[in-house]
This record gives sequence, structure tokens and C-alpha cells, in this order.
Amino acid sequence: MNQPIIYEGKSKIVCRGADDESYIIRYKDTATAFNGEKKEELAGKGKLNAAISNILFEHLAQNGIQTHLIRVLDDTSILVKQSEIILVEVIVRNIAAGGFSKKYGVEEGSPLHNTVTEFSYKSDQLGDPLINDSQITAIGLATQAELDYMKAQALMINDLLAAFFRKRRIILVDFKLEFGRCQGEIILCDEISPDSCRLWDSETNEKLDKDRFRRDLGDVLGGYADVLRRITGQ
Ligand code: CDP
Repeated sequence: MNQPIIYEGKSKIVCRGADDESYIIRYKDTATAFNGEKKEELAGKGKLNAAISNILFEHLAQNGIQTHLIRVLDDTSILVKQSEIILVEVIVRNIAAGGFSKKYGVEEGSPLHNTVTEFSYKSDQLGDPLINDSQITAIGLATQAELDYMKAQALMINDLLAAFFRKRRIILVDFKLEFGRCQGEIILCDEISPDSCRLWDSETNEKLDKDRFRRDLGDVLGGYADVLRRITGQ
């Protein structure tokens, strides 16, 4: 793929598409955590995440969610709709884990009385701080109507994905979504993969996601490959 690079992120490269309405996104093999402080090349990660995310995006599209995905180009590249990324990440939690457990002193794995939604400011420079609705609208990252829409979409996506994973013996613990503005609509962008979700085996609670990398649990890609195997029914 020789298209000019528009932007290179921690785990993906965005290139110009064939026209003004599309971009090409290529998944990289780089794994990063703690805002880029921990970084490693994991050969094959890009391919695994692309395959997993493509399946999940196609499942969501079939269930009425508007997404950026136009089509899959190859093992690591997709063609997507050009959009203006909203700098607000939406986090959905079904079970306490990670930053939530630490911040609020709730043991990892504790069930929650209700689904939690959070917003964080997508800013590497600031370390993606948690941010609330009035702070977001005050600094002009998004309107209240956009936030309400993103939150409602995120909860629908949670229902769809939690059911999808449950059938494959995986618990969807929590995940992060990004949205973009595209021709007057808000569409789901970025990726949904073991890099952006916590996924646990439903019998053993074994972690199949990026916590294997963050916490040095070993065989990071073994977990990702297991997720792919289960969602492709192999
Ligand atoms: O990753 P960490 O434990 O610090 O943060 P979290 O708030 O517990 O993360 C909640 C979920 O969102 C996890 O599945 C993370 O992998 C994901 N996340 C992400 O993909 N990107 C971020 N910048 C923050 C969280």
C-alpha cells in the first residue's frame, strides 16, 4: 500500500484513500500501554486485531449500527469513511476492572449494580483524563446532543457485543469506543479488539486481552488468537 500517510498513531496508520471520502487504515504490530510508556513489537498483532475488529464491526453493522467500515482490503488494511474523530472516548463497563477498580477501590471482577458509562478526553498529551458532560461541552469537544447519542449507541453496542461474546464463552468486561462525525451523522470509528476491550474466559476468568501485555502475564497473542478462534467458530 503506497498511499501517502496522513497520520501515524500508536497502533494504526491512516493513509489517504482513493477519493476524498475514504481513508485506508493499516493495523500495526506495535503494542503500547500506560500512554506509550510500555511498548513492544508483537509480530502478528495487527493481523489478529484487524480480523477481530472487522468481524465485530460487521456484526454491529448487520444490527443497525452505523460504522466507518466500507470494506476489508487485506489482512491488516481496511477502507473506511472519512470522518472527523470526536476527541471523547466512551468507556462501557459491565464488571469492575482496571482503572475503575483502582480509582474506586472495587475489587477486580466485582459485578456492578448497573452498566457504567464514562467519557475520557482523547489526548495523549494529557493521558486521556476522565471528563464529564459539562466539561466536554464547556471546552467544545462535543455537544450534549452528540454525547447523548454516543452514550445511547455505546449501550446498544454493549448489548450486542456482550450477547455475541457470551455465545462464545467470553465475558465482555469493559471496552472503549470512538466515534466520528461523517456527513451529518455520528458513526462508530477506530477498532474493537482485545486492545480496546477486556475479555475474560467465562469459565476460568482467564484474561484474553491487552491486560496480558500490561501486566506481563505472558503469551499476549495467544489470548488474541483464542478470541479470534472463538468468534470465527473454529
Ligand atoms: O486501561 P486502563 O485499565 O488504564 O483503563 P480503564 O479505564 O480501566 O479501561 C477500560 C477499558 O477501555 C479497557 O478495556 C481498556 O482496554 C479500554 N481503553 C482503551 O482501549 N483505550 C484507552 N485509552 C482507555 C481505555
